Amino acid sequence: MKQIIKLGLITLVTAPLVLLADMDRCVSCHGVDFEKHALGVSRIVKDMNETEIKAALDGYKAGKGGAMKELMMAEVNLGVDTDAMAADIYNESRTPGFEEPSDEFIFQKRLNVRSLHKLKENIKKAKKEDMKKISSQIKTTAFNMYAYDKVLRDKVKFEDFQAKKLTKEDILNTVTEVKKCIDHTFSPEAMAKCEVPFMNLAGNLVKNEGNMMKAKGIKNKAPLFTGEGAVDLSKYLEEK
Ligand code: HEC
Repeated sequence: MKQIIKLGLITLVTAPLVLLADMDRCVSCHGVDFEKHALGVSRIVKDMNETEIKAALDGYKAGKGGAMKELMMAEVNLGVDTDAMAADIYNESRTPGFEEPSDEFIFQKRLNVRSLHKLKENIKKAKKEDMKKISSQIKTTAFNMYAYDKVLRDKVKFEDFQAKKLTKEDILNTVTEVKKCIDHTFSPEAMAKCEVPFMNLAGNLVKNEGNMMKAKGIKNKAPLFTGEGAVDLSKYLEEK
C-alpha cells in the first residue's frame, strides 16, 4: 500500500504530462514492473537498459519495430519526448509495484475507478460525432480490465456478447453504475463481478460494429480497437 502511494507520487513528480495519463495503461500488457513479454511478443522491458528502451521508443515514433509495432506506435504518440519517457520507464521498472498481494487489488481498483471516471466525463460532454471515439475508449478500457484481471477472465464469455441498440444515456448509466460498484468493493471477487456489465457493454459495441460492417459488406473480424492506430486484438482475447 505504502509502495503504491510512493509509486504514484514518483510518477506524479517525474512524469511529463503526456506520460502521466498513459503510464498506468502499460501494466495490462507489460506487467506492473515491466517484467512480462507484452502479449507474449515484446522483450522484457525490465531487462533493458535506458538506452535500449529509448532506441525502441524512437523506433516506434519513426514507425519501426516488431510485428506488433502499431500497438506501441499508438502508445508513443508523436509529440512524446522519448528521453524522458525512457527514463520514466526505466525508473518505473526498477521500483517494485506491489509488496503484498492485496496491493495488486488496490492498484487495479484505482486504475479502474480512474479510467471509468475519465470515460464518464468524456461521455457526458460527447456529441453525436464523438461516440465512435467513446466506443473505442470503452473497448480499450475493457481490454485493459480483461488483460489485467485474472478473476474477471473466468467470468467473461465472449460467445454471449450480443448486438444491442444503445443510447448515450444507456452507455453513461452503465459506466456510472460500474464505477460506483467498483468504488465499493474490497475484494478481487467483488470487483470482477462489478466489471462484468462493463465487459458486456464493450461486447455490445463490438457486436454492433460487426453487424454494421457486415451490412456494408466489409469483411470483419470484430475489431476491438477502432480509429487511428487501431489493431485487431480479438485473437489475443480468444486465445486466453
Ligand atoms: C495492449 C498492450 C500494450 C500496452 C498497453 C503497452 N504495450 Fe508496450 N509493447 C507491447 C507489444 C506487443 C510490444 C512489442 C511490439 C513490437 O512488435 O515491436 C511492446 C513493446 C514495448 C517496448 C519495447 C520493447 C521491445 O520489445 O523492444 C517498450 C519500451 C514498451 N512497449 C513500453 C510501453 C509503455 C511505456 C507503455 C504504456 C505507456 C506500453 N508499452 C503499453 C504491448 C503493449
